[in-house]
Amino acid sequence: MGLPTYGTLDPTSGHVGGMNGHPVSGVGCVITRYRFDDLEFAMSDDLYLTQALALAKQAIGLSEPNPRVGCVVVSVAGQVIGQGHTQQAGGPHAEVMALADAAAQGASTHGATAYVTLEPCSHHGRTPPCADALVKAGIRRVVITLLDPNPLVGGQGVARLRAAGVQVDVLAPDHPAAVASSDLNVGFLSRMVRQRPWVRMKIAGSLDGRTALDNGQSKWITGDAARADGQVWRARAGAVLTGIGTVLADDPRMDVRAMAVAKQPTRVVLDSHWRTPLTARLLQPPGGVWLCGLTCDEDGAASDRQRALARQGAVAIPLPADSTGAHLDLGAVLADLAARGINELHVEAGAQLNAAFIAGGWVDEYLLYIAPKLLGPGRGLAALPALASLDHAVGLYFHDVQLVGDDLRVLARPHARLQ
Ligand SMILES: NC(=O)c1ccc[n+]([C@@H]2O[C@H](COP(=O)([O-])OP(=O)(O)OC[C@H]3O[C@@H](n4cnc5c(N)ncnc54)[C@H](OP(=O)(O)O)[C@@H]3O)[C@@H](O)[C@H]2O)c1
Repeated sequence: MGLPTYGTLDPTSGHVGGMNGHPVSGVGCVITRYRFDDLEFAMSDDLYLTQALALAKQAIGLSEPNPRVGCVVVSVAGQVIGQGHTQQAGGPHAEVMALADAAAQGASTHGATAYVTLEPCSHHGRTPPCADALVKAGIRRVVITLLDPNPLVGGQGVARLRAAGVQVDVLAPDHPAAVASSDLNVGFLSRMVRQRPWVRMKIAGSLDGRTALDNGQSKWITGDAARADGQVWRARAGAVLTGIGTVLADDPRMDVRAMAVAKQPTRVVLDSHWRTPLTARLLQPPGGVWLCGLTCDEDGAASDRQRALARQGAVAIPLPADSTGAHLDLGAVLADLAARGINELHVEAGAQLNAAFIAGGWVDEYLLYIAPKLLGPGRGLAALPALASLDHAVGLYFHDVQLVGDDLRVLARPHARLQ
């Protein structure tokens, strides 16, 4: 099953696209149109949906690999009696939290309406089905912003509710709350539909596109506010990925330090030949470390290094090579990370690995911090090959542009995602 509101949304057409520019296929769900005929009803619905979305945002940095979902339960008398959002994986989902909140307040949920920012689940995972919990609580109507593309749910949550006599209204994909919910869960949707994470590439540089001077000096091109903002984006990702070049040059920690987080993103290093030094700072807590290197091990030394790195607490992940045989196959890396539950991947690498991600068409979003400085000769954003024609340029559009301190923050996405 595909999802109509999947991925990047064209601000003009609302049409969406999928992996490497190909549209996501199949919209096998019946969408109940939002009921604009009853304006008063619709306006109060919007209010509660906004509240449910605000709750869903509280699951950022907490619920991965589960989606970020919020739920508001409104009584027959029109009072909010329960609120909740997804907890850590294995913990209760938003609906169960909201029903428990209502119960804790001694409020009756009989005949109430539940506003949920993703289709309630219908399967027994680590928790029982939320659709059943809503039915058991006597909920009369459920308003859903987004259908769940998870094959274990895929419209069955809606079917289960309707079979139990519950009125279910699913928002149209272009409803602002549906778009907001889709954006909030872009990583989860990517993993479910494309079996790979949403790849966000962060680069900090100067106005003339330099990330470092020729002599390697790069600390700091952007200001404090931009660097703090970058930490917020790191914190919302399931994993932060870099290349061995950056590890050897900078010995970075790659963790989130600027704020308290419920869960540190996993640090991932692409290190084809297992060269990560045993003393690398990112091997230290907090947070886990996954080292991806090549499967082939001709002399046995690589497995010795893998074992030594594992003793330092890293998880060694052997993966296949790309067509050159020299580096990791990025498609295999992304598939592996998705299988490990990574929804949003924050890539913070040097020019070489950046170029490989870009050339492969794997980047879904660029997070660029641009300082109002001109550095002249220096290192570029990505070591891309020279083009013979402007027609071959990687085309992007500006999704969002803001000043952060003295620097510019640009979110840019590939045109090819929009069909
Ligand atoms: N301004 C910024 O935002 C920013 C962010 C991060 C880093 N940096 C700077 O970037 C510099 C390091 O850049 P870099 O280009 O040398 O290192 P890098 O891009 O971080 O890492 C490059 C290495 O990744 C490995 N790799 C694994 N699979 C690959 C694949 N499929 N394609 C390409 N490479 C693959 C390669 O080594 P193996 O194949 O041998 O594993 C390659 O040498 C540092 O000076 C750092 O300060 C800047």
